[in-house]
Amino acid sequence: MKFKTEEDIKNLIENGKRIGEILEMVAALCRPGISTFEIDKQAEKMIRKAGGKPAFKGYKTYTSDVPFPATICASLNEELVHGIPRKNVFLKDGDIFSIDIGMQWPARGGVFTDTALTVPIGKIPEKTSKLLDVTRKALEKGIAAVKPGNSIASVGKAIELYVKSQGNYGIVRDLTGHGVGHAIHEEPFIPNYHDHYLEKIKFEPGMVVAIEPMIALGDWRVKTMPDGWTIKMADGSLAAHFEHTIVVTKDGNIVATRRPHETI
Ligand code: MF3
Ligand code: CO
Ligand code: CO
Repeated sequence: MKFKTEEDIKNLIENGKRIGEILEMVAALCRPGISTFEIDKQAEKMIRKAGGKPAFKGYKTYTSDVPFPATICASLNEELVHGIPRKNVFLKDGDIFSIDIGMQWPARGGVFTDTALTVPIGKIPEKTSKLLDVTRKALEKGIAAVKPGNSIASVGKAIELYVKSQGNYGIVRDLTGHGVGHAIHEEPFIPNYHDHYLEKIKFEPGMVVAIEPMIALGDWRVKTMPDGWTIKMADGSLAAHFEHTIVVTKDGNIVATRRPHETI
């Protein structure tokens, strides 16, 4: 990965503040009856109004030849990540809905951020609500491990240890956190489980990373849908996803994408 300059960091923190505010507003739109397409349209409007560009629109990965068509990844219930917003998919009471969003800021060096959360729609069962809590807290455990001197492995180690202490959850292995800033995905890749090979790579000031635990009520295995994007839990269990973009500083980190009323 390329280290970020002081200028990049300043831009990333400002970008993060805006996308954090936007994600909070987008999450507030999530009510029974709204379509995931409508949520996406509103999200795009907010990003453009803030002077940014949707970071995921047109994105291609090795897993798909089809460019991602939307502003948000809209993943419902057993869908884990990379769901495509749809005109005929409506939120309903009892759902959980994951929104992943990123902003590129052309006027400020083109820097990229990446952040996500899972929203409960109406009333959800206790067990599901605990899944969301565990995933959100797992993200905080991962964030606390991001500091100079600690290894990349320490993030997954902290997340795995915490999640396992909370019950028998599936910790997704096929997708990971990553470097971010000059592009949406940069090295290093940061798994949510302990990988001792990564003990050799240390965090250093000027690195910017996205930490993103993906946790399921059932087994950790996933499958990709025929649309080439949507990734679901293979056993159909519910899944949650929380993500932040984090700047490594001299003595710790700054969570660039923190939302104004986020509870941690
Ligand atoms: N934001 C996702 C991540 O956290 C990547 C989304 S790429 C897309 O890594 F094309 F699916 F949007
Ligand atoms: Co993301
Ligand atoms: Co990410």
